[in-house]
Formats: sequence, C-alpha cells, structure tokens
Amino acid sequence: APRVVRTIAELRKEIGNYRAAAPQGGKVGLVPTMGFLHEGHASLIRRSAEENGLTVLSVFVNPLQFGPNEDFDRYPRDEKRDLTVASEAGANLVFMPDVKEMYPRPSQTSILIGGITDRLCGASRPGHFDGVGVVVSKLFNLVQPDRAYFGLKDAQQVAVVTRMAEDLNVPVEIVPCPIVRDADGLALSSRNVYLTPEEREQALVLSRTLRLVPEWIREGLTASELTDRMKRQIREMPLADIDYVEALTYPDLLPPEESAPLASSPASLLVAVAVRFGRTRLIDNILLPAA
Ligand code: PAJ
Repeated sequence: APRVVRTIAELRKEIGNYRAAAPQGGKVGLVPTMGFLHEGHASLIRRSAEENGLTVLSVFVNPLQFGPNEDFDRYPRDEKRDLTVASEAGANLVFMPDVKEMYPRPSQTSILIGGITDRLCGASRPGHFDGVGVVVSKLFNLVQPDRAYFGLKDAQQVAVVTRMAEDLNVPVEIVPCPIVRDADGLALSSRNVYLTPEEREQALVLSRTLRLVPEWIREGLTASELTDRMKRQIREMPLADIDYVEALTYPDLLPPEESAPLASSPASLLVAVAVRFGRTRLIDNILLPAA
C-alpha cells in the first residue's frame, strides 16, 4: 500500500529519502488529481508506475480553480476508495493535503496563462486555468518530478500546463495520456456521479457525435460546418444545454482557416465540446493528427 502524507514537510522528506536511496536515474512521476478516483486516473498512475521508480499521487480539491458558482462545495470526495485505487494502480506515495496546508494564507502570487486560455474552458470558466496554474506550479515545486501525467480528457489543461512549464523552464516532462471511457462511450469523470440515469443516457450523445467527426472531416467540412452539424446532433437530446462546440488547432488552440476544409489542416486539430445536462457540465473531445 502507498504511504500517505498530509503535510508538505512529510512529502519533501519522503521524496528526499527516495532520491537519496534510489540508484542514479531513479525517476519521480507525479499524477495530480482532485480525487474521487476512477479508471481514467488509474491509467495515469499505472503509466507513471511503469515509467518511474517513484510515483507520487496528489489528491487535492483546489478551491482556486473553481468559480464562485461552481461545485467546489459539493465536489465528490472518498478518501478510502481513493487509497484503494491508488494502491491497486501502483502509486508509492499519496499526498493528501488540506486547504490550509496548501494555502496557509491567500496566494498573493498568481499565474496568468494567456492566449491558449482565450477559448474553450478558459473562456467559459474565467480564472479557472490561473487556479490550475498556481496549484500545478506548487506541486511541481514540491515534488520536483521528472515527469507529470495529465489526461487528454482535459486537452486544454494539457496544452496549458505544457505551455506554462515551457514558458517558465520547469524541468519536467508533461506526459499526455489517452481518454478512458466507460463501455458505452461516456468519458469517465468524477462528476459523472451527479448525473441522473436519464441525463447519463442523453450524455452519450457527446461520445457518439465525436466518434463521427473523423468521417465528417473526410467529407470536406470546414470548422463552422463541422461544429454546426455537431450542435444539431447534440441538440436532439432535450436535456443537452450546449456551452461550446469548437474545432481548434492543437496545441495552440487557434481557429483553423475558416474557408478551408479541415481535412487539409496542416496542424493537429482538437474538436472539443462542453455541454450541461441538468446541473452537470460535461466535457469531451477528440484529437486528430495533422493531415
Ligand atoms: P481531475 O479532474 O481529478 O483529473 C486529474 C487527472 O486525471 C487530469 O490530468 C485529468 O485529465 C485526468 N483524467 C480525468 N478523467 C480522465 C479520463 N476519463 N481519461 C483520462 N484521464 C482522465 O484535472 C484535475 O483534476 C485538476 O485540474 C488538477 C490537474 C489536479 C489540478 O487541480
């Protein structure tokens, strides 16, 4: 079973012990999460355990990345189950700080990540990625990992964290990991527990629509033709309330040339959706390699 630490002092001590004892080149992998772990998180932990001598899992619901009307207070938590998942997936050290430990006083230092946060979740959740930037920077400084594992379920987060690490010369390799889905296609998310059975059924429209995207692109659609068609399909579900449906270049997250068919895009493309079902906002996406 992994060792559990709740303070920064213990975390630093454990990592220091590992580095002192590990053979030259003993690598440290970091998997940052907000807990309520599922197979998506487990896939990141397993990957890190394969590639590193020490895998550090952090479980911390970061208040800074939630907007005033978002779900910080009701975000699901289950420490006991998280430790079972962590253990089975091969985490060696679990860092579970409380808010006071991470923010003993309000951070007067902020991380403003511009440009790639202008669209998608950056636009619909103002300040969200600044909060992610602060907590991820703190975790990088605390753990000083060789590699950090992030899921492409949050593709914009991968782009943002990669760019931040590059801009600030953080000596870490960001490892993007594929989206893990339920058997019916729904992308796994801690927030899926909020869904009623009816909402969950209708939410399948997201993965169903995204699966058709490669075919639609091959038909020669432009970005707006593609997203219009996707919106029409998603709106057939009466409970679906669209936040955004966008096709952007990846990892820069800029609009592709509007008059050109997406099939001729020289850049990788991210086709991403955010849709509310009842009170629950879900995101999903597909990443397509350059033509
Ligand atoms: P959280 O939503 O708990 O996600 C933790 C990590 O698991 C993220 O890198 C996310 O992309 C990945 N993940 C979630 N669902 C996944 C799925 N279905 N398939 C693959 N990977 C998946 O993202 C955060 O927490 C926070 O913003 C955090 C980075 C921890 C900063 O607070």
